[in-house]
Amino acid sequence: LTFDQIAPDGSQPAKARELHLIERPDGMPTPSQFNVVERELPPLEHGQILIRNRFLSIDPAMRPPLSNGLTPLNSPIMSLAIGEIVASRNTRFPVGQKVVHREGLRDLALSDGTHVDIVSVEDEPLHWHLGALGFTGFTAYAGLFDVARIKPGETVFVSAAAGAVGSVAAQIARLTGCRVIGSAGSADKCAWLRDKARLDQVVNYNEQPLRKSLKEAAPSGIDVYFDNVGGSHLDATLPRMRMHGRVAICGMISAYNNKGALSEGVTTLATMMYNRITMRAFIWQDHVTIWPQFLQAMRQWLANGDLVTEETIYHGLEKAPDALIALLSGKNLGKMLIQLD
Ligand SMILES: NC(=O)c1ccc[n+]([C@@H]2O[C@H](COP(=O)([O-])OP(=O)(O)OC[C@H]3O[C@@H](n4cnc5c(N)ncnc54)[C@H](OP(=O)(O)O)[C@@H]3O)[C@@H](O)[C@H]2O)c1
Repeated sequence: LTFDQIAPDGSQPAKARELHLIERPDGMPTPSQFNVVERELPPLEHGQILIRNRFLSIDPAMRPPLSNGLTPLNSPIMSLAIGEIVASRNTRFPVGQKVVHREGLRDLALSDGTHVDIVSVEDEPLHWHLGALGFTGFTAYAGLFDVARIKPGETVFVSAAAGAVGSVAAQIARLTGCRVIGSAGSADKCAWLRDKARLDQVVNYNEQPLRKSLKEAAPSGIDVYFDNVGGSHLDATLPRMRMHGRVAICGMISAYNNKGALSEGVTTLATMMYNRITMRAFIWQDHVTIWPQFLQAMRQWLANGDLVTEETIYHGLEKAPDALIALLSGKNLGKMLIQLD
């Protein structure tokens, strides 16, 4: 049965392919710890929908649950995905409707509509709704405005600035009138940040110690640190924070391959006291009341070419482990995605 032959009322069974975890990683995952499994989906019951996934989001946050037990063995790995309804017995979700949902790493998803969000796609590429126009861009927006409360004229430092969230955060800060410093781990990424994202200063943390680079890039200090990395990045940045500085903890990717996701030691916390620094961690889901204003602003920035987005796209479900490993190894520029044809 091809996707086009699926009955719109879901009256026949359909075959789905899913990605399973078959062995828990210790450190960097390896492709042999994952497996693609085929499974027959039953005909739809009243209220159910069948979603054909087009793009799957590959995220750092997928890594800790592979080791801590939250992702069960021999069952599908979850992630966010965007697709379209191909069969429906639910009047809220007509066939053809584009949706974002959490049933992730599979080609066909059977759902009762819980945690399925309708997206209105205009002229933009579909996958932007997992990237700059989706939860990725929203994470950057919420972290800067709701958590760090950036103001024009402030100096903002963003780590993993050439990544999905970081690249959007750095550009939003620039568009708000901040002076923006971004860090990345390679010369290519730094060139992109300078030339395409138009940051004020870029530092390659593999070239010289971050603490030294930040001293040069921000001689009078940093007002806001948007932290995607944690560990040694946080340790190096705290002493550069200005009086009443704010640190928005978005993520701690440097720790995710470690047992218990324990980071390298952060030894510079005393500077928080001397400089009255506020550190606040956040999760984007807690800020969704500002989603409408985010969407309006982001559509405008993208349409005007004020904000550029980049993606690294792998093709096919079986490539998802490679994509996750590449993400954790810093091989992506912008949003890491799997495209399903
Ligand atoms: N709070 C929330 O609601 C929320 C939502 C989404 C994402 N996040 C977090 O935001 C962060 C970025 O996520 P993303 O999806 O945008 O990923 P991403 O930045 O596109 O990709 C990860 C990047 O992190 C860097 N990296 C990887 N390992 C590193 C290490 N050991 N030390 C330093 N840098 C390392 C790499 O860039 P370099 O080559 O430059 O090192 C890599 O390209 C993650 O920590 C994630 O958990 C939080």
